[in-house]
Amino acid sequence: MKELEDFMRALNGIENPTIQELKSAIETIDFTDDFISTHLTEPNELPYGRNIIWVTDHIQAAIIHLPAYTETFIHDHGDSVGCALVLEGNLMNTIYRLDDQHLPREVSRCLVNRNDFFYATKYQVHKMSNLNLERAISFHVYSPSIHGARTYKPASKAVLTT
Ligand SMILES: [Fe+2]
Repeated sequence: MKELEDFMRALNGIENPTIQELKSAIETIDFTDDFISTHLTEPNELPYGRNIIWVTDHIQAAIIHLPAYTETFIHDHGDSVGCALVLEGNLMNTIYRLDDQHLPREVSRCLVNRNDFFYATKYQVHKMSNLNLERAISFHVYSPSIHGARTYKPASKAVLTT
């Protein structure tokens, strides 16, 4: 993967890269159409395609493909921090906090456009949605490599009572 050589070099040897270091490493990558089409995957078990293209103890890099009108589950990334870049389309990034019952409550939402970055701090809970007719593609880097990530049921569905 020639396109990732500088990216890997930038992060190799850094045990706990900061979000800024992840961003700087992503900025070394030339995301050509060829690169994107080679690594893009269609949804399989998840509602979206996720292709992990590089993984070490310290780094996990993935290309996420959200087809039209799809979204991820509400989830966190455990104790990993993350940095992502939108390569195609745009994404609504919704951030949640967990209430006393450990249910996700929406805090904010932000539209992230093509060529814009967005970030995840440790244990941040979020969801990404593609509200458009066109696909959305993004590149994500996490450190350390994700382990112990969790998904959450939407609070509105989890508290249905009659
Ligand atoms: Fe995420």
